[in-house]
Amino acid sequence: MTTHAAATLPLASVLPISSGLSAAGRLTLGGCDVRDLVERFGTPLYVYDVATLKAQCAAYLDAFRAEYPDSDVLYASKAFLNRPFARFIAEQGLGFDVVSGGEIEVLRAAGVDLSRVYFHGNNKSPGELALAVQSGIGRIVIDNEGEVALLDRIAGEAGRTQAVLLRVSPGVDAHTHEKTTTGILDTKFGVPIETGAAERAVRAIADAAHLEFRGLHMHLGSPIFEMDPYVLGIEVMARFIAEICRDRLGVEVPEFSPGGGFAVAYTGEQDAPAVASYAATLSATLRREADRLGFPLPHITLEPGRSIVGRAAVALYTVGARKEIPGVRTYVSVDGGMADNIRPAMYGAMYEALAAERPLDPPEETVAIAGKYCESGDVLIQAAEVPHLQAGELLAIPAAGAYQLAMASNYNLAYRPAVVMVEDGEARLIRRRETPEDLVALDVD
Ligand SMILES: Cc1ncc(COP(=O)(O)O)c(C=O)c1O
Repeated sequence: MTTHAAATLPLASVLPISSGLSAAGRLTLGGCDVRDLVERFGTPLYVYDVATLKAQCAAYLDAFRAEYPDSDVLYASKAFLNRPFARFIAEQGLGFDVVSGGEIEVLRAAGVDLSRVYFHGNNKSPGELALAVQSGIGRIVIDNEGEVALLDRIAGEAGRTQAVLLRVSPGVDAHTHEKTTTGILDTKFGVPIETGAAERAVRAIADAAHLEFRGLHMHLGSPIFEMDPYVLGIEVMARFIAEICRDRLGVEVPEFSPGGGFAVAYTGEQDAPAVASYAATLSATLRREADRLGFPLPHITLEPGRSIVGRAAVALYTVGARKEIPGVRTYVSVDGGMADNIRPAMYGAMYEALAAERPLDPPEETVAIAGKYCESGDVLIQAAEVPHLQAGELLAIPAAGAYQLAMASNYNLAYRPAVVMVEDGEARLIRRRETPEDLVALDVD
């Protein structure tokens, strides 16, 4: 039973909104005591808070309905997806952005409305494109000039006309990590404007017999903490809509997507803009540019991934070995690591941790929280301020909902973790922990 509101907890700003404290002084998530969850489901355990997920979905729908009614919100599935989770997101009123045949198959298996699915990717295979066309995907987002002819042929063979967007790289730096920036010239994603490729691709789509050009897409990178990249990106795209599509090619642009990349805080010191601020800035910029350049306001689609799920989940680990190197560093190891969260090793992502069974205890030391896998780089947090952690106690790492399980691996033949959704004191298992049988299930002897 929860006795404290989330606001009184340390790291309250990055914990799920339903977080609290049990009568025994332990962290609760969705009204569930972390110790009870772990006794049922083990560690590492990923706990998604339904209240936070619902609030984030509603924040996007409400903010954009208010600022720009002709809009649709698509959840970027790559942040985290499985079948029950897809159904849950669809029930909240969101469509989906996918980047692989696998994501399409999971959405199909979940029974969601595929006409609200947008298919991205810089190297979609002919098989994936055929799957998308045949399953009635709402939009395919063409990413390069070669894909125009390929998709036109595939749509023709399927006897369909496929509605498409074109992903343009507008040449705008979103000031994110080099591995997560996508709107600049030197990126594998999208067709650049400045080389003339974007203009050629629009012309080719407009001329294609089996493609219907619906509009343009940009995605600048992730996470974007500032408004300026969106403003600059929309300005560049607006000029392209007016000067190239309309004036030079005579092509209307009824739809536009400014992509995703909306930031979330990972540590108590970080401050991400509110969803309403993104909505206000994006909408005002697009209205101003459409007005100034004289083109009709397009329908827009937003593609938040991280900011729908990031804060909603907490990763729970059991503390294990301790190694003190006097004058250098203390390592405290947990029973997960880079196999369930590659982000710190891959791009230096920052997190903070909480002693989950005594979250109000003040920090006593600064330690490195190490994973258990066979890489020196398997360190989840370089300098965590925590009480003196004891083997067997639980460690919580908040802001664990996005791009962690989605990038999880079986490195060292780790069992990928169980996932639960919590609400009103109830925990629902939505993915079981892997077993030894799973590890050999695909082997052919
Ligand atoms: C095309 C596209 N849209 C949306 C997203 C989602 O980004 P985020 O999860 O940061 O919102 C991505 C992320 O890679 C993307 O490539």
